[in-house]
Amino acid sequence: MSYRSFAQVLADKQILVCVGSGGVGKTTTAAALALAGARTGRRTLVITIDPAKRLASSLGLATLGHEIQEVAPDLVCNGCDARPASLSAMMLDQKRAFDEVVERHARDPEAVKRILANPVYAQISGSLAGSQEYAAMAKLHELDATGRFDLIVVDTPPTSHALDFLDAPEKLTQAIDSPAIEWFRKLQGGGRSGWSLLGKTGSFVLARLAKFVGSRFLDDLGVFFTEFNDILGGFRQRAEETFALLRQPKVGFVLVSSPEPMALREALFFHERLVASRMPLAGFVINRVRAHQPADAAPAVIERALATAPAVAHLTLSGTSVRMAAEALAAAHAEQELLATVDDGALRRVREAAGPDALVVRVPLAREDVHDVDRLIALGQILTAPPA
Ligand SMILES: Nc1ncnc2c1ncn2[C@@H]1O[C@H](COP(=O)(O)OP(=O)(O)OP(=O)(O)O)[C@@H](O)[C@H]1O
Ligand SMILES: [Mg+2]
Repeated sequence: MSYRSFAQVLADKQILVCVGSGGVGKTTTAAALALAGARTGRRTLVITIDPAKRLASSLGLATLGHEIQEVAPDLVCNGCDARPASLSAMMLDQKRAFDEVVERHARDPEAVKRILANPVYAQISGSLAGSQEYAAMAKLHELDATGRFDLIVVDTPPTSHALDFLDAPEKLTQAIDSPAIEWFRKLQGGGRSGWSLLGKTGSFVLARLAKFVGSRFLDDLGVFFTEFNDILGGFRQRAEETFALLRQPKVGFVLVSSPEPMALREALFFHERLVASRMPLAGFVINRVRAHQPADAAPAVIERALATAPAVAHLTLSGTSVRMAAEALAAAHAEQELLATVDDGALRRVREAAGPDALVVRVPLAREDVHDVDRLIALGQILTAPPA
């Protein structure tokens, strides 16, 4: 289904996933869409990742953490007519979320304790490729299943590549199936005597390794991979099941980009991948677009004013004549116009590449950061405005 505005998206979808390259405005867009959703009466949850402190505190969530917190209804309403539905927010703690994955899949509570306390787990759980994205998806799955929310808006990690998100299950299983890990798994499968499986050279290498890192560390490593094996068994399948949620029609991807060529290329590439893997697009948000200047600020207007009083042009203040100031203004204006024209071109390219049915919304560059409720509401209004 294609949409004419994000108002339709908010009414139709149950899960929105905001993706895009680093710093383009994913977290801000997720917060603004969630606020707009709640204001139209949907019980909404926004799962943010590492929001700017000022954004969290402007929602009254100074201590925003892994637990779900409700945003004060007055803040959500902020002068609205109808009573909005609730808005809840949480900040995904990716380490905690991955711990929860372990808790859910380990054989028994004792095994969970041992794994979580294992120093090897502490080292690698956050750094395995794709683990952050997997943890986010697992949490989404869990919250979606509770039925507590009509709409869940998900922010994604500040990875430099939006595509990391779609590649996460593959990367994660590749990392887990890596030959090095397989080696340790086999080793431990054979118990300590399994060391003999390595043959003379392998045992020698391991003995030398123990000298460097300590045999305690090697034991931790071995125990970790044995225990983790339980969880990893069928891991690929579970990761794929988790990510299969993203194919459901109730989900919509919001592709956030700035007009910069690199960010745009990535958003368009992501779009191609969505189409190829039949994942649903909600729309594009092209954020921080530089706007054309209002006509009454145009240098021509100033020129006309000066023409009516030529003497004024020669007035000088601190060595700068009115004429010089007008020329500087004209140059700045021309530069702004040029940037706005470049950004128009960027929007055109997105529309051409994404096709006439794709929703593409342009969000102007604001003078200041978007970190308070008023600005989020204003951003929500831009996003949900009917097409011009
Ligand atoms: N339209 C806009 N005009 C001006 N500032 C904006 C706009 N949109 C977002 N910002 C500001 O840009 C900064 C980055 O935005 P945000 O944190 O949402 O990006 P992000 O994509 O989530 O970044 P990361 O990839 O690091 O998570 C914030 O300070 C935000 O207030
Ligand atoms: Mg962010």
